[in-house]
Amino acid sequence: MIEQALAGKTALITGSARRIGAAIASALHAKGATVIIHYHRSKAEADALAQTLNAERRDSAFLVRADLIEADLSPMMQQVLAHNKGLDILVNNASLFYPTYLQWDAVSAHTLMQVNAFAPYQLSLLARSALEKSQGVIINLVDTHADNPLRDYGLYSQSKAALRQQTLSLAKELAPHIRVNAVAPGAILWPEAKATLQETQKKAVLEGIPLQRLGTPEDIADAVLYLATSSYVTGVILPVDGGRMLKK
Ligand SMILES: NC(=O)c1ccc[n+]([C@@H]2O[C@H](COP(=O)([O-])OP(=O)(O)OC[C@H]3O[C@@H](n4cnc5c(N)ncnc54)[C@H](OP(=O)(O)O)[C@@H]3O)[C@@H](O)[C@H]2O)c1
Repeated sequence: MIEQALAGKTALITGSARRIGAAIASALHAKGATVIIHYHRSKAEADALAQTLNAERRDSAFLVRADLIEADLSPMMQQVLAHNKGLDILVNNASLFYPTYLQWDAVSAHTLMQVNAFAPYQLSLLARSALEKSQGVIINLVDTHADNPLRDYGLYSQSKAALRQQTLSLAKELAPHIRVNAVAPGAILWPEAKATLQETQKKAVLEGIPLQRLGTPEDIADAVLYLATSSYVTGVILPVDGGRMLKK
């Protein structure tokens, strides 16, 4: 049923040069979609992914580069819409993740809220008329920490809570033409850079997961595929977390 479900559809996936975003782009592409791979810094990875996907199907993957900190994302959306003259699926996946502790830091507050919550809102509104035309879908990547805040990551948790609420709000306001849902990953890939964990911290995370292991980027891509292809699901936040949200 799902095999060719996305043939003729176009999907924009933000932050999809690598990690979970790349798995989502590859999964949508495998179901027939043309994908627009958005990236900011990971040009080499974005080029390589587009080349692989275009080798499988000619002119089926395009690139768009943008820093989502920008106040005006309309030039980015114009580029996106110019590729295939329309849009069916918007996946707001790009995100920043780092600790801010209990200190006020105006730059981090602005940066985390802008990239994780306001950029998805702006992109959703900019894509609105194209998505209305296609009876399309928006899928946001939130986090189980949108509900259960992560210690030391207060601003990140707040930004994902905003994105969670935005998903529900847009589902109400963009119906009946556009469905809006979210996937809430648990622990899938270990964080990088400023958020890197020690081995003891990784062990503690794994012990808190009933399924006792990390999820995979493909687990998240499967959930995105489901939300992209269903027709009667909107306003849903779908946890994919190995049971991490269950209370002990
Ligand atoms: N990894 C997990 O276990 C996990 C757990 C819970 C939730 N999630 C959520 O799932 C999604 C994917 O997770 P992930 O770990 O794969 O994400 P990630 O590697 O932390 O980030 C994905 C991409 O976001 C892009 N990005 C960051 N800042 C940007 C900016 N200013 N402008 C444009 N793009 C920017 C980066 O693109 P470039 O590399 O091109 O700069 C990056 O590759 C995220 O929304 C994340 O919050 C992940």
